[in-house]
Amino acid sequence: MIRKIALSLILGVSVANAAQLTELTEKCEHCHGENGNSNEEQVPSIASLSVKYFMKTMKKFKNDKRPGKKFKPEGHHEENDMNTIAKNLTKEDFRILADYYVAQTFIPRQQTVDQNLVRKGKKVYKRCKKCHTDNGSNPQDDVGILAGQWMPYLEFQLEQFSSGKRTPSKKMKKQLNKLQDGDIPALINFFAAQK
Ligand code: HEC
Ligand code: HEC
Repeated sequence: MIRKIALSLILGVSVANAAQLTELTEKCEHCHGENGNSNEEQVPSIASLSVKYFMKTMKKFKNDKRPGKKFKPEGHHEENDMNTIAKNLTKEDFRILADYYVAQTFIPRQQTVDQNLVRKGKKVYKRCKKCHTDNGSNPQDDVGILAGQWMPYLEFQLEQFSSGKRTPSKKMKKQLNKLQDGDIPALINFFAAQK
């Protein structure tokens, strides 16, 4: 008897979560793609982001500590931005979404790169390596995923960091300040070339 009650409780909870999860991911998929692999070059892939980075980032959007660019997806969906989206979700929603996306496989975006810039970027990447390990592909670094991410997205984020619209950590800022003309396109090509 006790066992039966316990079982129905477990099932009851997991059924509610499945419905809740679908309702939540439907709010993301038309921009971030199925399973968090984005088909829109302005929208980052979010598959496999670490729970820590995901939670921190959603909180930043919610508190307007990071600006979210407005985006109008294809079809009948309305233009929206991450600040508005995050404000309409609870911390519990963030957690459910974080647990879902961390379990999805990140599929590097296929992009055309310039091999000379890739080679140059590999050298410049030494400035980033300490925090963005494995050529920027390791979600466990808790700093997002740069390898195989959309180039226009990366470029925009680097602009946001240098203009101060998105706040980089002091140590990252120090490395960004050392970059010279041409280093940013080289880095972006290098990250995009990672498979
Ligand atoms: C209208 C399109 C749109 C929808 C819907 C949307 N996003 Fe976003 N999302 C974006 C864009 C654009 C960015 C890049 C924002 C920027 O930095 O300017 C982004 C960025 C993010 C990031 C940061 C990724 C990183 O690597 O730093 C996370 C996390 C994220 N979104 C999660 C979500 C979740 C979860 C949902 C669903 C609840 C969602 N988004 C719904 C467009 C959207
Ligand atoms: C001392 C550690 C450190 C170094 C060195 C560093 N970063 Fe970062 N980087 C971070 C942290 C921390 C974040 C997450 C910022 C946040 O939470 O918004 C980040 C985030 C980023 C992002 C945004 C990722 C996303 O998904 O939106 C980009 C792009 C980036 N770094 C590029 C670089 C580049 C290029 C270099 C080398 C020139 C570099 N970083 C060096 C710590 C570092």
